[in-house]
Amino acid sequence: MSLAVPAGAFVGVVGPSGSGKTTLLRAILGRVPSVSGTVRVLGRDVRGRPPQGVGYVPQIETVDWNFPVTVEEVVHMGRTRHAGPFPWPNRADREESARLLDQLGIAALARRHIRDLSGGQQQRVFLARALVSRPQILVLDEPTAGVDIKTRDDILHLLGDLNATGITVIMSTHELNSVAAHLPWVVCVRGGIIASGDPEEVFTTEVLSATYGARLEVLRQDGLLLVADAPHGLREQLRHTHRHRHERGGDEHEHGHAHLPAHEHAHQQEHDA
Ligand SMILES: Nc1ncnc2c1ncn2[C@@H]1O[C@H](COP(=O)(O)OP(=O)(O)O)[C@@H](O)[C@H]1O
Ligand SMILES: [Mg+2]
Repeated sequence: MSLAVPAGAFVGVVGPSGSGKTTLLRAILGRVPSVSGTVRVLGRDVRGRPPQGVGYVPQIETVDWNFPVTVEEVVHMGRTRHAGPFPWPNRADREESARLLDQLGIAALARRHIRDLSGGQQQRVFLARALVSRPQILVLDEPTAGVDIKTRDDILHLLGDLNATGITVIMSTHELNSVAAHLPWVVCVRGGIIASGDPEEVFTTEVLSATYGARLEVLRQDGLLLVADAPHGLREQLRHTHRHRHERGGDEHEHGHAHLPAHEHAHQQEHDA
């Protein structure tokens, strides 16, 4: 199935671990060596080389933190493609980086080593690096993974503000309720595109169950969309197990383990990843 993202969109890519979210994002960046079919970005075919006008924020967990580099230096890296014959930043580059760090609320951290920052601060640093080249499209891989609720909200509002200035935002996320259901457009992937569109229409039990390989119930109430991703029937199963244990006087050997069906295991792994 093909996927078209209109200019100015704010898109969330969801799917279980290993479903191809990162691969889809990397294909947009021309970083997937073999792609069957074509990828077009801003009207041009992407063929193995990064397209102009796209800023990328990698998943923080995949960054090599042993590399000794400061916040400022990371942000300057985003300028390299614009740089003239010299690899070091010029005065305009420095001013632009400083402005972005200020805008993102991390100006005070400019001289700090990125390794010493919190997850949310690191996310902002990489966001600044992506923005310094003034992209028309911003691609982010799980920008809300591993940060607290307040930081997650801040990041989403920041991305909303950037989107309001006309930047197309494409981000992957694991968080169906807290993130994806609030975005105007979602794409469900599992080895390919399962569905895409307004979460109101796309987030159905059928589509999400096909995407995650586990049954997910979708609840709608007062304009609120909620995906119940608790292991299906687990509570009843555990109640049953515990009631038996209680009645039998706590015989651990006979009733100590609740049997988990295969799909519950898969669900668990998804959260661990
Ligand atoms: N459409 C695809 N065709 C073939 N291999 C794929 C495809 N999408 C993903 N893969 C492979 O599956 C693995 C996991 O993909 P990845 O994009 O990292 O998933 P996610 O980011 O959703 O966890 C990678 O090894 C990738 O090469
Ligand atoms: Mg990934």
